[in-house]
Amino acid sequence: MTDNTTFTPRVFSGIQPSGGLTLGNYLGAIKRFVEMQDGGTYQTIYCMVDLHAITVWQNPSDLRRNTRELAAGYIASGIDPERSILMNQSQVPEHTQLGWIFNCVARMGWMKRMTQFKDKAGKNAENASLGLLAYPALMAADILLYHSTHVPVGDDQKQHLELTRDVATKFNHDYGVDFFPITEPVIHGVATRVMSLRDGSKKMSKSDPSDMSRINLTDDADAIAQKIRKAKTDPEPLPDTLDGLADRPEAANLVNIYAALDDRGADDVIAEFAGQQFGAFKPKLADLAVAKLSPISCEMSRLMDDSAELDRLLARGADRARELAAPVLKKTYEIVGMVGAGT
Ligand code: AMP
Ligand code: TRP
Repeated sequence: MTDNTTFTPRVFSGIQPSGGLTLGNYLGAIKRFVEMQDGGTYQTIYCMVDLHAITVWQNPSDLRRNTRELAAGYIASGIDPERSILMNQSQVPEHTQLGWIFNCVARMGWMKRMTQFKDKAGKNAENASLGLLAYPALMAADILLYHSTHVPVGDDQKQHLELTRDVATKFNHDYGVDFFPITEPVIHGVATRVMSLRDGSKKMSKSDPSDMSRINLTDDADAIAQKIRKAKTDPEPLPDTLDGLADRPEAANLVNIYAALDDRGADDVIAEFAGQQFGAFKPKLADLAVAKLSPISCEMSRLMDDSAELDRLLARGADRARELAAPVLKKTYEIVGMVGAGT
């Protein structure tokens, strides 16, 4: 490895500011970002990936509001902008610079196989933006720009992380170097895939047209309770073992949400509620969700009231990120043979 490699392993992750935060983002991503920050093993870098968001159309004023709301969501959930680096991607231009190099490393075939591209491009792929196709190369740049070794994400990002490993391997091989690390995805826990409250076969998503399908971090206590009360379930009581949830996706989802919110294993939750009807379980889940999420949404709205302070924190995060990013980009340019970069 080169002199740019640090001894403190680095964690990088990002969320798109393309809408409000959902319970899926919180349990699958942010809550785990906070644990990795607090664990003390890693240097942690968390990002609002605004350049990724615009691969599909974003209204500029919505994008601004969503970026600040996401920053507020990170901080309200426990990301400390002093202990972690917190910034928006567009303010660290090295991401796009390294992204271009990786556009020239990644292959078209790799990109066309990505399920997120196929899902988002839909039937009319010819009309999708070129950025949507190139997206995973920019994501690889986000990660490798900091020589990050660990990336906490939800299950849906697994394929993109495999591509990041392919980009690092191909770059190192083509240029005969051992420069970019092979990143480890960190996908574990009971909430790597929180499902829609209306359809247990679909992931909970900010882009689902039905607001009843998701819990938003900005929902108030009444909305949370109502969404859980109306969540789709089946007529059976809760089973007494996890195996009994195998063909019951909606029931399994609610049990997993309960376990993740309460920092317990799903088996422990099943042991407590075995044999109970949803009529009894749902109000308990609603109380738990309100207890855990209300403080976050209150703190988010307090932070949103002072957007100048949020902007100041993000600008400082971007400065700190650039200090780490600049030497890695310079070394990459040097390896690639760009005159002016050294050698
Ligand atoms: P996105 O909102 O698509 O930018 O996703 C941001 C992060 O949240 C990624 O790590 C996703 O894998 C994670 N995430 C999004 N939706 C869910 C979900 N329903 N369950 C678990 N993780 C999720
Ligand atoms: N692609 C991720 C998503 O849609 C967001 C993202 C962009 C990301 N760059 C990243 C996640 C780097 C982890 C690391 O959710």
